[in-house]
Amino acid sequence: MYELIKTDGKAKRGRLVTVHGTIETPVFMNVGTAAAIKGAVSTDDLRAIKTQVELSNTYHLHVRPGDEIVRKLGGLHKFMNWDKPILTDSGGFQVFSLAGLRKIKEEGVHFHSHIDGKKIFMGPEESMQIQSNLASTIAMAFDECPSSVADRSYMEKSVARTTRWLKRCKKEMNRLNSLSGTLNSQQLLFGINQGGIYEDIRISHAQQITELNLDGYAVGGLAVGESHEDMYRILDAVVPYLPQNKPTYLMGVGTPANILEAVDRGVDFFDCVYPSRNGRHGHVYTNRGKLNLFNAKYELDDRPIEENCQCPACRSYSRAYIRHLLKAKEMLGMRLCVLHNLYFYNTMMEEIREAIEGGTYKEYKARKLAGMGQKS
Ligand code: GUN
Ligand code: ZN
Repeated sequence: MYELIKTDGKAKRGRLVTVHGTIETPVFMNVGTAAAIKGAVSTDDLRAIKTQVELSNTYHLHVRPGDEIVRKLGGLHKFMNWDKPILTDSGGFQVFSLAGLRKIKEEGVHFHSHIDGKKIFMGPEESMQIQSNLASTIAMAFDECPSSVADRSYMEKSVARTTRWLKRCKKEMNRLNSLSGTLNSQQLLFGINQGGIYEDIRISHAQQITELNLDGYAVGGLAVGESHEDMYRILDAVVPYLPQNKPTYLMGVGTPANILEAVDRGVDFFDCVYPSRNGRHGHVYTNRGKLNLFNAKYELDDRPIEENCQCPACRSYSRAYIRHLLKAKEMLGMRLCVLHNLYFYNTMMEEIREAIEGGTYKEYKARKLAGMGQKS
């Protein structure tokens, strides 16, 4: 299923073959939380900007429109007209970041919907059932993402529970995949490593979850308020304890520089809201750093966002025009910025894959970071 094609230092160039097609890694998954990339981006657009994997959220789709409804309509792929791979996050993280008044127990989490306040319970079995109804390509395990400032004793208890939850996830996913009415009987399950900024907790957790022989492994609980140095230190420590011959996914990360650094530490799956969120605010990425198109200096700038960029924005429109659209609150303005940013990320991943194949990853990384005005 996953093939490790080439390594360059710790950087991995891989390939994950799924029922919905092949994922070339390192890959950046484009975040469409509620089955839509924010910024009026269609699935035709995704095809035009080199998206390989779309990412949606169990929690959001459970609350609205409801996973039973998506199932009745043939699953998420058919519902949103996207036939390539989809990864669904388990709901764990979103419950902790969005839902008010939650109560964590051994069986799962009791919380209130952020839409209408309705009481909801989600545990490992419920999360797997919802993801099975959505019929995503890759389901994520139901985990607890503890606060970055959680103390050691809380972290140890939380991680032990996340491991027990993972075992229940695996058992339930196996059961669901073998049911005759299941929409995707080959749904993959990735486990999630936790442990905050404590290297020893991270490592022992990684060793325990690796024994479960899952389809891939994520590092969660990072980019939640800790420093970049802490994040890189944890990746240095824990990635060597995750199987190299399986996908390695750093959840919710990050800036282009974060991705370049994490690839260098053996990560090959990423997702982040930055490119779409920044695009909606008129902040666009270039190989010379980020631009704020609201800035007055772009008023008469008739160049594209980035010279030679082949994205739908840069092929047809100038900085000055997009700035005007943004200022006039025309939806097209933010849409073009989002398309450019996702194209920038997807193209960077393409460059990363080529550099690893050519054995020049370190040089590529240094050049890219220097261009963007970042240190390595
Ligand atoms: N997204 C970003 N971080 C996390 C995490 O720790 N767990 C889950 N489930 N999703 C995430
Ligand atoms: Zn562009």
